[in-house]
Amino acid sequence: MERLSTGIGELDRVLGGGLVPGSLVLIGGAPGIGKSTLTTGALANLVATGRKVLYVSGEESAAQVKLRAERLGQHALGVPIVADTDLDAVLTTLEAERPEVCVVDSVQVLYDTALTGAPGSVSQVREVAGRLMRLAKKRGIATLLVGHVTKEGSLAGPRVLEHLVDCVLSFEGERERTYRTLRALKNRFGSTNEVGVFEMQEQGLVEVEDASARFVNEATRAPGSVVLCAMEGSRPLLVEVQALVAPSELVPPRRVANGVDRNRLALVLAVLGRHGGVSLGTSDVFVSVAGGVRVDEPGADLAIALALASAAKGIVPASEAPLAAFGELGLTGELRHVGHVERRVGEAHKFGLERVVHPSQRVGTLRQALALLSRGTEEAAGAA
Ligand SMILES: Nc1ncnc2c1ncn2[C@@H]1O[C@H](COP(=O)(O)OP(=O)(O)OP(=O)(O)O)[C@@H](O)[C@H]1O
Ligand SMILES: [Mg+2]
Repeated sequence: MERLSTGIGELDRVLGGGLVPGSLVLIGGAPGIGKSTLTTGALANLVATGRKVLYVSGEESAAQVKLRAERLGQHALGVPIVADTDLDAVLTTLEAERPEVCVVDSVQVLYDTALTGAPGSVSQVREVAGRLMRLAKKRGIATLLVGHVTKEGSLAGPRVLEHLVDCVLSFEGERERTYRTLRALKNRFGSTNEVGVFEMQEQGLVEVEDASARFVNEATRAPGSVVLCAMEGSRPLLVEVQALVAPSELVPPRRVANGVDRNRLALVLAVLGRHGGVSLGTSDVFVSVAGGVRVDEPGADLAIALALASAAKGIVPASEAPLAAFGELGLTGELRHVGHVERRVGEAHKFGLERVVHPSQRVGTLRQALALLSRGTEEAAGAA
């Protein structure tokens, strides 16, 4: 299958190897996350390689888009812009221009004058996307639809669109943090496990190819810090899991999870209490993945548990390098195997993390894993 490279390696990878001509891709994300920056950057690269592109801006005036382009550099200024919200006008322009790739920013502001619903309403969004799709297929235009998602992911637009489009990409991260991740929630042309890591900088979104190295270097080596060997699709990624445990004045106490699922945290806390001898029922508990990254895999359990235990006991988990871990927790306190053991361990070793706790014959339960945590300090004390 022919694919168009967007010139952004991380984006191409999440797409499954580049843009497929005639495909419809929805990029959803919270306000200000960088959707316009990312799509403009992709079009700029395509222009630089001689591709015909078009940027349809319904949200910002041509002057505003130009301002961003100036920030992003030379090629971005060469991206033709159409500032319009009338669907018929946009379709006519596309039909006349026949770009190979177009961006519609955003699908929620375009509207069909023949429909009564307001722009962004379910009927409008469905109509706008449907007609854009028919044109995209007919003329082979790879179309990137930008869609807004509220923090709860609740907005009508992207949800109703999911079935219609070929790919749904989700751009995530905390706006105040520098790291952003791009993942595929649906992909008719590739895996949905890939994730791209970006950093927002002055000159736009910069790909972070050495994400593991960054996150390991930034790991704090303090009590409550453990490096998780995560798998994001076919790619191992080291991220720092941080935990803080503090006496609570609230009933029930606080459970705050950033970057990990709340239910996962609840499960880990319950297993720690029942089978690990670490009871945090009267403590506020905060867990966060550093850098604003999200990890959504059972393999995160053990790292979360070790970070919590280390925070609760004030144990620095390792002598020199941070402690690394991965593995799923079973409800009876056993450690369960997760996939790609060698790649995870390999990634940790590559970045100087020699001590990796994971389910094995020797370490089969949470208790055994916790014992390794405190042995780290003894070793450190012995060495000092
Ligand atoms: N001069 C700058 N230097 C660094 N970062 C900037 C600069 N100007 C804007 N940004 C970043 O770009 C982000 C906005 O990016 P962008 O407009 O691509 O987001 P968006 O997802 O399209 O937002 P919206 O939902 O409002 O359309 C801001 O949140 C800010 O972090
Ligand atoms: Mg925007």
